[in-house]
Amino acid sequence: MKVLLTSPLPIDVENKLKVSGIETIAGNGRMTKQEIIESAKNADGIICLLRDSIDAEVIDSSPGLKVIANYAVGFDNIDVKHATSKKIFVTNTPDVLTDATADLAFSLLLSCARRIPEADRYVRQGKFKGWRPDEMLGSDVAGKTIGIFGFGRIGRAVAKRASGFSMRILYTDPKEWDFLDAEQVDFETLLKLSDFISLNASLDKSNQRAFTMREFEKMKRSAILVNTARGKLINEEDLAEALEQKIIQAAGLDVYEFEPEINERLKRLDNVILAPHMGSATVETRLKMAEICLESVKDVLINKRRPDSCVNFW
Ligand code: DGY
Repeated sequence: MKVLLTSPLPIDVENKLKVSGIETIAGNGRMTKQEIIESAKNADGIICLLRDSIDAEVIDSSPGLKVIANYAVGFDNIDVKHATSKKIFVTNTPDVLTDATADLAFSLLLSCARRIPEADRYVRQGKFKGWRPDEMLGSDVAGKTIGIFGFGRIGRAVAKRASGFSMRILYTDPKEWDFLDAEQVDFETLLKLSDFISLNASLDKSNQRAFTMREFEKMKRSAILVNTARGKLINEEDLAEALEQKIIQAAGLDVYEFEPEINERLKRLDNVILAPHMGSATVETRLKMAEICLESVKDVLINKRRPDSCVNFW
């Protein structure tokens, strides 16, 4: 049995794979599609990253493939429909990264509100000459309104944090939730009433570029937008324009429309914080994610059972 690891995994996890009799084909974390196709030809499984596009062509060129384990909770990089038609299990890593990602969303929110990276640059540049009443003024967070776009596990974990700051919580989601005092609202209301908007929806055809200039113009001029979900929820060129023109106040971004490329205009702005897609990037969380991938692959190839974190059914 062979499994392609498109990227190295924590060494303990790789060892556990080998001990269970699974041979690994090692990738370097930056594999091109062609390299994945070549390396996966004789593979029974693939453990891949969200940057790897596992489309129909990749799937079809690996005739023995039985499981695709994504080292992420989002799986928009995989053609799940095609995999399902071939009875290939697709798995993700839910739950274990919920808190880490919500922590990052809230860190970006607070950092934008209080201009932390800008303040750090200001001090290092020698501009701090002593306390002044008008220096580095930001926005209050406590008591403000947060709008959460997508109220799944991570959206609700952001709500929990917001509740600790006595915030009013609005959300859009197809499902109504009885959770804290959160209020389900329509998208237009969320745009209009929120002081902070946190994007926590998984990406699908219905919400691609849900945030364009039209939406930014409906938001408060003091609004702060945080995206730790997927870059393609936003039209990045429109966002750059909205931030330049101060149509909204600031943005904290962990993900990008054309990742890893980042709009050059955004890089020049002080009212945007840019992070390198690090929502789940804690030592503990990344280890747990790798362990779920390991268990998923073992379930399919050795235990001959449907993995717990399987996202497709037939
Ligand atoms: C995921 O798991 O989908 C996250 O984006 C990774 O940080």
